[in-house]
Amino acid sequence: MQSTLPYSWYTDPEILRREQELVFRSAWQYVGHLGQVPEPGTFFAGSSGRTPIVVTRAREDDELRAFVNVCRHRGFPVAEGQGRRETLQCPYHAWTYGLDGSLRSAPRSEEEPDFPREELGLLPAAVGTWGPFVFVNTSDDPEPLADALGSMPAQIDELGLDVDDLVFHTRWEAELDANWKIVCENFLECYHCQVAHPAFAAVIDTSTDAYALSTEGRLSSQRGPVRENVRLDGELQRSQFHFLWPNLGVNIFAGRPNISIGPMVPLTPDRTYRFLDYFFGSDVGPDWIDELMAFDAQVGLEDRSLVEGVHRGLAAGVLDHGVLMGRSEQLIGHFQSLTAAALGQA
Ligand code: FES
Ligand SMILES: [Fe+2]
Repeated sequence: MQSTLPYSWYTDPEILRREQELVFRSAWQYVGHLGQVPEPGTFFAGSSGRTPIVVTRAREDDELRAFVNVCRHRGFPVAEGQGRRETLQCPYHAWTYGLDGSLRSAPRSEEEPDFPREELGLLPAAVGTWGPFVFVNTSDDPEPLADALGSMPAQIDELGLDVDDLVFHTRWEAELDANWKIVCENFLECYHCQVAHPAFAAVIDTSTDAYALSTEGRLSSQRGPVRENVRLDGELQRSQFHFLWPNLGVNIFAGRPNISIGPMVPLTPDRTYRFLDYFFGSDVGPDWIDELMAFDAQVGLEDRSLVEGVHRGLAAGVLDHGVLMGRSEQLIGHFQSLTAAALGQA
C-alpha cells in the first residue's frame, strides 16, 4: 500500500520555507477577475501566494499589468482594495506611481542629488487571463499561462460551460487550522463524500465506477455525474472539480452555469488561507444561486472540520505517516509525487 507523505512535512516550518521557494515561486496563481478592472484607469490589490500584488489597467494604453504591491521606498503596500484612479499613491510618504508602474513623483526627491526615479518603478509580475480569470506569476521566466492550465479550459468547454459568459457573484474567504497540503488533499478525493457530505452524495454519484478521476501533467480532474434518480434543473449534467497543482481548486456543479475558483495559500505550517470567487452564467436566477451557495457552504463547513481534525491528528506526532487507497485516492498520490519531486525528495 502506498504511504502518504511523512507527517512531519505538515508541521515543519523548514518544509514550508522550501515549499514557498520550490513549489510556489514559479507557479501561476489566481488573483482575481477582469470585473475588478472594468475599464482603463482601474486597479485591484490581491496576492499571489504570499506576495502582495496589484493588477492595473493604465488609462494611456489600457494594458493589463501586474506589479508587486510593495513600495520601492520602504515597503508599504501602494494599493488596497480596488478602484478607479489615475495613479497609486503610497500612504506612507506619498510616493506616487502611474498605473503603468512608473514612479511619477516622490516628495523632496528634488533635494536628492541623482535621484534615480526611472529605476524605482513598481516591480512587474507576469499576468495572464483565461476567460474572466486573472492569474499572476512572480517568477523571472514564467511558462505561458495556457501551458500551466493544460486541458482544463478544454474540459470545461466540452461540458458546455462558456467561461466568457460568467458574471462574478461573491468572494468567500476562510482561514483553516490545517496545513495547506491537507486542504488540497481533502479536495482531491471524494472517498469521504458518502460519509461526510450526505447532501452532496445524494445528488452526485460518488461511487468508484461513476465518479471519474484523471490526471494530466499538473492537472487532476474529478467528474461526477448526477445520480440517475435526481432531476436537476440546468444544462450541466456533470460536476467537474479540477485541481491545478500546486494549489488551485476549480469547482463546477451540475445544474446551471456556475464556477468557483480559488487557491489554498499557506500562512504558517498549521494555517491556510482560502478564497473562492463564485461566478454564474449571466441568465442564472437568484433562487438557483442562493440554493447552490447554501449547499456549498454546508459542504465547506463539513470540510473545515475534516481538515482541522486531520491536522490535529498529524501534529500529534505519534504516527510517521498514513496510507493511501490506490484507486479512490490516486489524485492525492499524484499531488504528493509532484510535491515531493519539487522538494527534491522524489
Ligand atoms: S514606503 Fe511608500 S512612500 Fe515611503
Ligand atoms: Fe469534502
